[in-house]
Amino acid sequence: MPTIRMIRPPLLALLCILLAALPRAISAQEVDDRALTPPMGWNSWNKFGCDVSDELIRETADAMVSTGMRDAGYEYVVIDDCWQVDRDSEGNIVVDAERFPSGMKALADYVHSKGLKFGIYSDAGLMTCQQRPGSRGYEFQDARQYAAWGVDYLKYDWCHSGTQDAAASYSLMRQALDASGRSIVFSICEWGSNKPWRWAPEIGHLWRTTDDIQNCWDCRREWGGMGFVHILDLQVGLESFAGPGHWNDPDMLEVGNDGLTITESRAHFSLWALLASPLMAGNDLRSMAPEIVDILTNEEVIAVNQDVLGRQGRKVRDDGDLEIWTKDLHDGSRAVVLFNRSEQDQDMAVHWPDIGYTATLDAHVKNLWAHEDLGSFQGSYSTTVPSHGVVMLRITP
Ligand code: GLA
Repeated sequence: MPTIRMIRPPLLALLCILLAALPRAISAQEVDDRALTPPMGWNSWNKFGCDVSDELIRETADAMVSTGMRDAGYEYVVIDDCWQVDRDSEGNIVVDAERFPSGMKALADYVHSKGLKFGIYSDAGLMTCQQRPGSRGYEFQDARQYAAWGVDYLKYDWCHSGTQDAAASYSLMRQALDASGRSIVFSICEWGSNKPWRWAPEIGHLWRTTDDIQNCWDCRREWGGMGFVHILDLQVGLESFAGPGHWNDPDMLEVGNDGLTITESRAHFSLWALLASPLMAGNDLRSMAPEIVDILTNEEVIAVNQDVLGRQGRKVRDDGDLEIWTKDLHDGSRAVVLFNRSEQDQDMAVHWPDIGYTATLDAHVKNLWAHEDLGSFQGSYSTTVPSHGVVMLRITP
């Protein structure tokens, strides 16, 4: 058998050049630096449903800047369903001209002029969930159109998809986006129906894990929508599928919508931050109470969500209504959420072994909502947690 030593030097050089020139199979992850931390932004659906317009999107972009949300890390302004009404004779998607009189390009330009990014919504099936034209059969044409408008983020839904294969359908749109010439974050929204955490990390940057979140603590709708505590329960076990560039998406925030108290909104935000969930606000940014601005812009809580290690947090204790959740952070510290689901305030303790530290370790404890350094503790820390609320800590050895 010829060994490399038997090949003469000029031939060896030629061989090296030829090998270097061969196309190498590179995975999407290897070249994709989008969404290295969970995407942050705003989406119209939770608060406005189909009541979307040019004016709403411009005012929301303005509010994202004036409230300090942009500076806190929020980036994408996403129009959900109902911006589209038809296709023209050449198959081009037609924008609702009454609601968006200046067209999508001008609107995207406006959002970009505020230092923000622009997102839009479509569906892998024949129609969207609100019976607007879907992208099935028009994937490449639509992706080219989005790129021409300046779209930076696509949420892609799963209504009216019939017997379509989910992985194949989402993969097709991913190819279309890649071929569009524009860098577009791809948000997969098939509600966890086909266990997307198994196939979506190769295709999208985030994937919904459940049916739609509702504006309530623990309600359940007949069709599957549910309050945030039920959605939270469904995240257990999905931790290992998330990481930089690919995130489980437990759905957009209901923080600041009227179905949650301030305490519940704070709990919801803390837990979504700890889950390394995308943080897509779903309220009216133009008229927020100061307490809601404080929740959405808490830099220390956002830092937990955006931590570069990219670990999703997990539940480490479940004592009925009292739960302890923790997330490993890049500097060896832990974020901890003490969550009290009961109807009364409760005393709770986090013990170091539950979060991966030895019981003899001295560690510094900071309260991320009170913005208070609590000092050094050995082995455990205990406190009172409000009903339906959290205490969120950063514990540093
Ligand atoms: C589905 C999605 C929601 C929203 C609506 C729009 O229900 O899961 O997030 O996009 O469609 O019709």
